[in-house]
Amino acid sequence: MSYKSSIGKAVANILANQGFKLWVLIFLFSLIALRLITIFYYPKTDIISIAWSLTIALFCVGYLWIAELRDRHRLERINRELTITKDILKESELDAIMALILSQEAKDHYSYGHTSRVTKYSVELAKELRLPEHIVDTIERAAKLHDIGKIGIKDSILFYEGRLSEKDYEVIKTHPVKSVNILEPLKFLQEEKGMILHHHERYDGKGYPQGLKKDQIPLGARIIAIADSFDAMSSDRVYRKQLSKQAVIKELQDNSGTQFDPHLAKVFLSIINRFYD
Ligand SMILES: [Fe+2]
Repeated sequence: MSYKSSIGKAVANILANQGFKLWVLIFLFSLIALRLITIFYYPKTDIISIAWSLTIALFCVGYLWIAELRDRHRLERINRELTITKDILKESELDAIMALILSQEAKDHYSYGHTSRVTKYSVELAKELRLPEHIVDTIERAAKLHDIGKIGIKDSILFYEGRLSEKDYEVIKTHPVKSVNILEPLKFLQEEKGMILHHHERYDGKGYPQGLKKDQIPLGARIIAIADSFDAMSSDRVYRKQLSKQAVIKELQDNSGTQFDPHLAKVFLSIINRFYD
């Protein structure tokens, strides 16, 4: 590094120093005070001419103004970097959770790919409803995490090949609450938790865990409920083969207004062809 650039860097460091800014401010006030004292008490003495005083004061104000702009710019940049870092951290946490969900799905041939399909159907429906982008993103995250609570249910119940007993079905029904409990430490998922908790509610109030009805159920939960049921009907299950497209359409129509939000079911039916090859 050359001698000149070292001096330039040293001067730039001093000018950027917050302490230096304070000294400039003190100097400016002192200059004004000195001028006022000389005007009132020693009017005939001219220690510093008005022209010099004004020039120095203008330089000080100019420097302070530029320093303020530069500091604001630097703060905005730091804020942007912090937001990006926060988003990366959130994504990493979600990726870790997704790895858990996928490892759970991999245990069972029938549920393999369920989460990614439900997410795809939910996002398509949300977009078709022209929901704002940030709400579509929230629904996407909720759909990805909607069944994470199943991790807390015994494999012997979860992968039972046959009709579940009433007692075991009650255990399965605990998974939305378990999902929310697992996600509890992730404070940035508040909206998603509501959607996840209620994705098994029914429009007529006969669902679980709280028996909410109609608009009491979060919109995202009503969307995921349709996507979830559609995937259950259109893929093979332990106890039955996948339903035909016509049978799925009939099920969605028949349960519109009872199990499903009728408006959402109608919109979903209008885009259902997208999900068949
Ligand atoms: Fe579920």
